[in-house]
Amino acid sequence: MNAIIYVFSGTGNTRRICSLYKDEFEANGVATTLYDVRGALEDLPDPNDFDLVGFAYPIHGFNAPHIMLDLAKMLPCVEKKRYFVLKSSGEPIKLNNISSLKMNGILKRKGYELQSEYHYVMPYNMIFRHTDDVATHMWRTAKALAPIEAREVLAGKSHLLERVAFGHAIAWLFRIEHPAMRVNGRMFRVDADKCIHCGKCQRVCPMGNIHIGEDGKFSFGGKCLMCTRCSFGCPTDAFNIAMLNGWRINGNYNMDYDGAPQPNKHAKYCKKAYIRYFENADKKIAEAQKICGVNQDNVV
Ligand SMILES: Cc1cc2nc3c(=O)[nH]c(=O)nc-3n(C[C@H](O)[C@H](O)[C@H](O)COP(=O)(O)O)c2cc1C
Ligand code: SF4
Ligand code: SF4
Repeated sequence: MNAIIYVFSGTGNTRRICSLYKDEFEANGVATTLYDVRGALEDLPDPNDFDLVGFAYPIHGFNAPHIMLDLAKMLPCVEKKRYFVLKSSGEPIKLNNISSLKMNGILKRKGYELQSEYHYVMPYNMIFRHTDDVATHMWRTAKALAPIEAREVLAGKSHLLERVAFGHAIAWLFRIEHPAMRVNGRMFRVDADKCIHCGKCQRVCPMGNIHIGEDGKFSFGGKCLMCTRCSFGCPTDAFNIAMLNGWRINGNYNMDYDGAPQPNKHAKYCKKAYIRYFENADKKIAEAQKICGVNQDNVV
């Protein structure tokens, strides 16, 4: 048996989740390919060559990033092939459940059948910076939960997210984000006093949207997905991300923080939703441990 997960990940959160799935799949004898979705989507692997197919992405404005829709459009038709969806987002609110609707609609018309969808809360890469202790809690929860849910995928279990009233209409409205981000991406700027000309941003952009001329001058094309990989990973925080600059976050989280709880000025933000997410996750992890004694090391 073999599997493929088509993954788009701006700053690594979604890819980390996919790696947990890959490890669990392979521990169960399923050879797994993580295919990084990027650029012009050329030479895509054919889902017909795989027994299990997954799609993974970070939620952007209650939707999948535009490239996931392009991917769904470019994949070949299949005959009743079941697939699963993995997604990560910074907040656990129910509105995020609508994010796959458009992509699922495109895939359905091509013969794909949605089997399951799983959502993991991971630290924000835009809007505000979670504290490292919160980021660590999110990651440890995902590490304990993902193997359990990966086994559900292998077992063919159906797991669909709760519907949201007027979900299609709300998702459609928020998809203004797609053209808006392409326009916004053209207006990025780099602070010449901070830039050390390492070229990292140009190398890592999944769309090849950043050009640095021989004179060191930056120019930005019209293909930006607002994944924040460039600005998040810049070693000197030299980026200005135009209209969204007030929400810019720079630098990796320490997701192995072991110190005392940290002061958190966003502690009240969506507090009930975060509590519910962690309680539900802990319950599922505890139940799985009772049944088969797994993941003892990862319990949060
Ligand atoms: C442009 C943009 C829009 C986002 N919109 C949402 C959102 O609607 N809801 C949410 O919970 N998180 C949102 N986020 C946060 C990301 O979904 C979250 O940090 C995710 O884990 C990033 O995954 P990645 O590292 O794989 O890109 C957004 C992030 C970006 C960059
Ligand atoms: S990653 Fe930052 S420091 Fe490096 S070239 Fe890009 S803007 Fe300059
Ligand atoms: S320019 Fe930056 S935010 Fe836009 S796609 Fe490239 S890496 Fe992502």
